[in-house]
Amino acid sequence: MNILAIETSCDETSASIIKENSGALEVASNIVSSQIDIHKAYGGVVPEIAARHHVKNIIPVILESLATASLSSQEIDLIAVTSGPGLITSLIVGVEAAKSLAVAWNKPVMQVNHMYAHLAANFLYFNLPQAPSFKQGVGNNQFPVIALIVSGGHTEIILVEDYNKFKKIGQTVDDAAGEAFDKVAKLLNLGYPGGPIVSAEADKFKIQNHQKQIKSKPQKLSSNLFFPRPMIDSPNFNFSFSGLKTAVLYAVQKMTQEEIKKKIPEICYEFQAAAVAVLVKKTIKAAEKFSAKTVFLAGGVAANRKLRQELETAVKNKNLEFFVPDFKYCTDNASMIGIAAYYLAKENMPDLDNWRSIKADPNWELE
Ligand code: KG4
Ligand code: ZN
Repeated sequence: MNILAIETSCDETSASIIKENSGALEVASNIVSSQIDIHKAYGGVVPEIAARHHVKNIIPVILESLATASLSSQEIDLIAVTSGPGLITSLIVGVEAAKSLAVAWNKPVMQVNHMYAHLAANFLYFNLPQAPSFKQGVGNNQFPVIALIVSGGHTEIILVEDYNKFKKIGQTVDDAAGEAFDKVAKLLNLGYPGGPIVSAEADKFKIQNHQKQIKSKPQKLSSNLFFPRPMIDSPNFNFSFSGLKTAVLYAVQKMTQEEIKKKIPEICYEFQAAAVAVLVKKTIKAAEKFSAKTVFLAGGVAANRKLRQELETAVKNKNLEFFVPDFKYCTDNASMIGIAAYYLAKENMPDLDNWRSIKADPNWELE
């Protein structure tokens, strides 16, 4: 089966070809046209501008994905598209493109939930009996899985009982983890998107301290700042990141401009440590409660090295399997949409005329 997948939920226009052979999935192309440089100037994504660029880019990106995979439109068996959650004006571009191609090529369309797709990126290596040895956690498809999905708009813990059977057991009650990274970067004037920048600044603090330690006698990496770990011991699987962001704001308000400039790496290090500590603790608690055999990490914030390392260590200490996608399948991409569509279609292949019922839904929540 060959799947053409389309993703336009935020500020990335992406198309991908997923080839399936006897249950093994191959990413034959993954074209991502990012608008980060355009939105940087505004300090965040401007929906109208994002939609305009999706309209401009969608056809070239789809054509490039077909050409890279050396496939013609006749060789496509299924079209997959993100229909929510996301920005309505962005979603509409991908959804209408998918529906138009479905009619023109006479192909079925599968609508895919963006959050399910983030976790499904892990299925690429989950079910392979043999896979490249450098991949983590290959080939032990053991359910139940606890999936931590951390993106710019969502922070969720999902119990995955089978490829197609999943239930949300926790989520943020206010800001998403990625949103907190972005807001901390904004209040420190570091630019957009904040996640990678805050993470790089945190690494600087680690390196500065490491160099100090080489000169003096070794000691634990320490900072005079300490930020709260909101809801870390709450009796549920929910998160809150708004208070953590505010704690950073209050700390910064007490400093002079000079001090802030000097302390940016330390602030980022401590903020990241607090966010990661909560994410790891809650995920492990969920894995224990639901007797999970495997833990998945997914979403844009899964590109964060500290989170990847700390969650992997904690999961392995519990003797569970750990999966996290390659960096390129953590942030928004169409390959994850194609992978998700394969497992959805295995259970329920859509009819040829189902394009009539597909609609963008900006608030489509996983249940
Ligand atoms: O999943 P994603 O690409 O888009 C959404 O569906 O929202 O996630 C984007 C989020 C942004 O908030 C970005 O700052 C964050 O992922 N992010 C990171 C890192 N790379 C991206 N956060 C922390 N550390 C990173 N290295
Ligand atoms: Zn996303």
